[in-house]
Amino acid sequence: MGAQELDLAGLRRVYGRPGSRLFYTRVARNARHWGWTEPGQSKWRLWRAQRQLEDVLGRKLALPADARVLDAGSGAGVVARAMADRFGLAITGVDVLDFHVAEARRLSTRTGLAQRTSFTWGDYHQLPFPDGTFDGAYSMETLVHSYDPPRALAEFHRVLRPGGRLVLLGPMSTVPLDEMAPRERALLEPYLDAMVMTGAKIYHARNLPQLLTEAGFEVEEALDATPYYLPTTEAVHAYFWLPWAVLRRFGDPARWLNLRSTVEMYDVREYVAWYVHTAVKPQE
Ligand SMILES: C[S@@+](CC[C@H](N)C(=O)[O-])C[C@H]1O[C@@H](n2cnc3c(N)ncnc32)[C@H](O)[C@@H]1O
Repeated sequence: MGAQELDLAGLRRVYGRPGSRLFYTRVARNARHWGWTEPGQSKWRLWRAQRQLEDVLGRKLALPADARVLDAGSGAGVVARAMADRFGLAITGVDVLDFHVAEARRLSTRTGLAQRTSFTWGDYHQLPFPDGTFDGAYSMETLVHSYDPPRALAEFHRVLRPGGRLVLLGPMSTVPLDEMAPRERALLEPYLDAMVMTGAKIYHARNLPQLLTEAGFEVEEALDATPYYLPTTEAVHAYFWLPWAVLRRFGDPARWLNLRSTVEMYDVREYVAWYVHTAVKPQE
């Protein structure tokens, strides 16, 4: 089980080191998420894949324009702005890293989307909003960091109105860690620890639908999207394994955690599935 408390210092390490920030701002153009590649498309077009993944989220949310939507773990706000710009949604982002909140606000102002996107500092396990505030909520690759996934899901449930929709996108292990062969577990666990992916040690592809149900949701769909994600994993590995090998050999690997994550995701790909879960808070 996880530590059951927020590891802010760990998250600051993962996202705040100059190497990580450089990687995310310059290479990933502020997005901190993977991509979606359709069959037959080139895997090398990473930015297009990221935009397509955002579109998948917008379609799964399936909410009308002006719907109020929570972005749990909003990073620099790339996804929030995509939802506002392409789907007309009114997004409230919450992130536990102050520099992400500041960056998200700055970029929204610069792109003219500050009216439709707002960003607040907060921990999504204890959200600063009254019950029933939102028509929808999503987590784009952030639940992996949860120190208490059942509590996070209960909190998403609380802030949604009856009939509100939840979409969770992200990676998880295919089976519980203790069912993995020792060699597989030895590969995956240190990676999850280094990246503060505590949630991914608690939930997995088998139990997440059950956790959603226990939090009060009706699960509409548990889509195994691994085939759409794998091309991004292959491409980023091909692009970055050499820079990572050089930095690991001659530099301080701890300074480049996100580059490490990007490359090592490839090594653990056999045990990792990518899912899109869509769930609804039942009408009263
Ligand atoms: C992989 S990034 C994804 C960011 C954004 N969703 C995107 O796709 O660009 C994960 C984000 O979750 C945030 N986060 C992690 N734990 C959190 C928590 N308990 N409450 C709020 N945000 C959290 C991190 O600070 C980080 O910005």
